[in-house]
Amino acid sequence: MSKELIERLYRDHYLTREELVALINHLDDEGKKLLFHYSLQTKIRHYGKKVFMRGLIEFSNYCKQDCLYCGIRASNKKVERYRLSINEILQCCNEGYRLGYRTFVLQSGEDFWYGEDKLISIVKKIKGMFPDTAVTLSIGERGKTVYQKLFEAGTDRFLLRHETASKSLYEKLHPTMDFKNRRTSLNTLKKIGYQVGAGFMVGLPGQTAEDLAEDLHFLKELSPDMIGIGPFIPHGETPLRDAVGGSLEDTLVMVALARLMIPEALLPATTALGTLDPNGREKAILAGANVVMPNLSPTKVRPLYELYENKICTGDEPAHCRGCIEQRITSTGMEVDLGRGDSIQFQKNN
Ligand code: 5AD
Ligand code: FES
Repeated sequence: MSKELIERLYRDHYLTREELVALINHLDDEGKKLLFHYSLQTKIRHYGKKVFMRGLIEFSNYCKQDCLYCGIRASNKKVERYRLSINEILQCCNEGYRLGYRTFVLQSGEDFWYGEDKLISIVKKIKGMFPDTAVTLSIGERGKTVYQKLFEAGTDRFLLRHETASKSLYEKLHPTMDFKNRRTSLNTLKKIGYQVGAGFMVGLPGQTAEDLAEDLHFLKELSPDMIGIGPFIPHGETPLRDAVGGSLEDTLVMVALARLMIPEALLPATTALGTLDPNGREKAILAGANVVMPNLSPTKVRPLYELYENKICTGDEPAHCRGCIEQRITSTGMEVDLGRGDSIQFQKNN
């Protein structure tokens, strides 16, 4: 039965929620092999053997939100907080540019110390100094006007994971946030013209196969340019410290299903997967992922951006990660692409 569903998904890029639930619940080893085979073929059909590299700059770990799973939640008083200055951010970009990166992803907690003026000036400076790069922001929810101004300042992309498409689960995990606003924000970003990234965690406490099927349907409808999928990994200084967390296998299955449902999406092999298994990122690439985001943050602040425990690369220099990742990509038989790596959907519309 799984085989028939997988083949239909490969052909039609669609299964109903009920069919996805059946597939997720009954997938055996043989089914997984077939699923990964088709998801990799689908990735190759659209993007060839290319895997894109993005340089990630974690510029602040201050956060006003209190997501139950996250190590830098506002209530965690044990985190030493930091903010990078504009100059420090530019230095990271400079080093990244030298290492060949042509996309910079600026990520932080929801830190309103960086108001619209500061953010605009950061984006303008980066685009002015490195005009052939793409700038991605991953800074959480801001109003429509701010999103619009940041886009006009030159920001190309915006990552805002939907985290989970289940309203009840979302509300349990995000006491300070609003389910509807998350979705509205994603639609607003799309309408403005950003390449938009959504995504979710796998293995959240109480998450069911129905919830995961809903994540895939939500993504199919939103049709984002990028989809970040990672395992939930418990953090000791959060209320979910004793939760079990997502498994490598379950996450790989969701990456593969996302590739088949939304074939043209850019799908990162997430750092969280590399944390669960030393070869997690390679396995994700072979399940249809085509982006990696090595860290460019200064080594001194890296251990402080701890969303989950045992995060990899916290002691490594940018140049080390750059080489490490390249070697990991080529070990899978794929090829590194250092270009901007815009999504196919975006290329068609521009
Ligand atoms: N485990 C895995 N992923 C996490 N994130 C935050 N906390 C955790 C955790 N404990 C993810 C969220 C967020 C992204 C930046 O990191 O999905 O959107
Ligand atoms: Fe940082 Fe491998 S990516 S050490």
